[in-house]
Amino acid sequence: MGFLTSAALHETGYVVLDRHDQSSDPAEWLDLTYIGWRSSGITRFAPLASYAGDLECNGFWNHTPPRTDKDGVWIADQVAKAPTLQQRALEPGANVGRCRVIELQPNTYADAIYNLHQDDNNRLNTEGSGWIVRGWFNLTDDADSLLILRSDRFDPATEVRLPLHGGSRIIVDTQRFWHAVWHRGTTPRYSLITSWTSGPELDAYIAAGNGEANPASVDLPADLVAEAQTELHRRIEERRQAFEAQGIVMEPVESLYN
Ligand SMILES: [Fe+2]
Repeated sequence: MGFLTSAALHETGYVVLDRHDQSSDPAEWLDLTYIGWRSSGITRFAPLASYAGDLECNGFWNHTPPRTDKDGVWIADQVAKAPTLQQRALEPGANVGRCRVIELQPNTYADAIYNLHQDDNNRLNTEGSGWIVRGWFNLTDDADSLLILRSDRFDPATEVRLPLHGGSRIIVDTQRFWHAVWHRGTTPRYSLITSWTSGPELDAYIAAGNGEANPASVDLPADLVAEAQTELHRRIEERRQAFEAQGIVMEPVESLYN
């Protein structure tokens, strides 16, 4: 039967929408409560919607009863501090699963390549319903920072690099792409991440935002990319040996982050 997917994402698996006028919005993300949560890099999260409206970030499938990443429950204390962010997550009219602000500390390109991961949003999702994708709204102006997408984790030739200007809006099938952010700033980067269910509402939102399926990708020096590849394999081997020393066989492909 398959899933209901978004036609706008069929071509490349991601779209970049027109930029939101972020500078005219209040910096609500600075008022939120953040909690430690492991993701790509040194991060904290401020959840806005969670499994049951509690201040936590866990995947909905890790709760009882488990469910897929749909029907997130708004966290009253958080959305009271960030009504504009909640409104922006609701704007497409698509079902919202997890919704949170991520705070990412500056890192290196090699860090980002090591942090590449696929999400697991569609665990427990049922065929015949909408495929879950993710939106990133950059809240801080990080024009030199890049969202990195790879269809093949180990192949830089499959890499796309999208700049993270303030107000940038990017929607990605994050279960299909390996992804991470290289944040070149000196202060933390903040981004609103929302799990949306594909369907006509999300399609209409993408169309209204002039979703571009082939945006320009930022070039990087070949030696920087080559060095990061070497470092990626070095860190994976280092990690494998550390696990082996504890008698643990590392999964060939980790899905540690989502
Ligand atoms: Fe992710």
